[in-house]
Amino acid sequence: MSRPIAISLSPNVSSDDVRLAWYLLLVQSTWKDHGVLQRAAENIAGRFPNHFVTLTSSGRQAIFDLLRSYNIKKGDEVILQAFTCIAVPEPVIWTGATPVYADVSPGSYAINPEDIRKKITPNTKAIILQHTFGIPGPIEEVLAIAKEHNLVVIEDCAHALGSTYKGKPLGTFGDAAILSFGRDKCISSVFGGAVITKDKNKAHQLQAMQNTRRLPPSSWVLQQLLHPILFSLVLPSYFVLGIGKVLLVAFQKLGLLSWAVSYEERQGGKPVHIEYTYSPALAMLLLEQLKKLDDITERRLTISARYLKELRIPTPGVGNSDIVHPYLRFPLQMANRDELLMQAREKHMLLGDWYDAALVPSASNFWAFRYIPGSCPNAEVVSKRIINLPTYPALTDTQVTNIIEYINSYVDPGNHE
Ligand SMILES: Cc1ncc(COP(=O)(O)O)c(C=O)c1O
Repeated sequence: MSRPIAISLSPNVSSDDVRLAWYLLLVQSTWKDHGVLQRAAENIAGRFPNHFVTLTSSGRQAIFDLLRSYNIKKGDEVILQAFTCIAVPEPVIWTGATPVYADVSPGSYAINPEDIRKKITPNTKAIILQHTFGIPGPIEEVLAIAKEHNLVVIEDCAHALGSTYKGKPLGTFGDAAILSFGRDKCISSVFGGAVITKDKNKAHQLQAMQNTRRLPPSSWVLQQLLHPILFSLVLPSYFVLGIGKVLLVAFQKLGLLSWAVSYEERQGGKPVHIEYTYSPALAMLLLEQLKKLDDITERRLTISARYLKELRIPTPGVGNSDIVHPYLRFPLQMANRDELLMQAREKHMLLGDWYDAALVPSASNFWAFRYIPGSCPNAEVVSKRIINLPTYPALTDTQVTNIIEYINSYVDPGNHE
């Protein structure tokens, strides 16, 4: 039984990661090996010349700590884009500041510089520049606005580890950047994140914040280590009489698998991992993924290049060919999105819908995140049309062909724009 096409189900994990997770589960003395944190941080720093890396328990925690390190607090405003995940406004709210949403440019996935200008007030302190799907946002325009108004620029590289702009890694343009090693990001350790900064003092300050936190409890680490292991059972049987699907629901209901975003968070609560340091056990998983990062990036590029070449459909918002985009997910816009996703599922292809609302998960309490429905119309239009095609490394050439043939079968003037 092979792995089905499933964009969201533990996409980066292969058998070596599963073996390592078993080893870590059985040898719990590794869970306190702080040396591994150092090795992981050095490996990442090697990819961002002249930058310092601070590991965090999630991308959310990285944004939270960075904002606090810039003394952002109650009464301040932070501009971020609509067409995002609640994981971005959440940490703004935890500081006491207010997230202010700027719309995306029409047909694109990136913040609109003109709308940023409209949203700036005397209380604005920072802009979060999200490189959605690994596509560079409008870097030069945002840096120019920030300079004019003396604002901090935080690059959100949660989707963009391995992406470059004009030959330099994304994450090296703003004042600082964050990474995520969540379960469906560029590389994964179930939970995890990092701050990248050129400022040595800031890196020390961020590490000092980590030193006030505690290691996650064993039960939490256990739950995360089970993630790759249980998905190695769920995935091959996902479409076999629905066995894998039933297993997945059972594992979730039994609390053996964590949620990327919990129910409480969707209502405005804080996730437990915000209190924890990055777990050395998860850092071991990350190190294994880091060893493969260059190959993973290469594979994403190859798959994305096939989509660009072989899909008979316009691909708005994907940038231009002189910029290297290892798309985390390859975005398309289709008028009949819901039908397409449903029929793909019937053909055993689980494609993606990031982000199917201006702020996701769409079942969140928008009020808690200060998003006013209708306030960012371009993001709302795109979110109704978006689908994402997988680029994860385990996708086989035949699976890519099947996806392309399936999407091309939709190419008909009435079905897309
Ligand atoms: C654009 C973006 N930024 C930041 C994050 C936060 O990352 P994490 O899940 O590691 O907290 C996410 C995660 O969903 C994201 O999609």
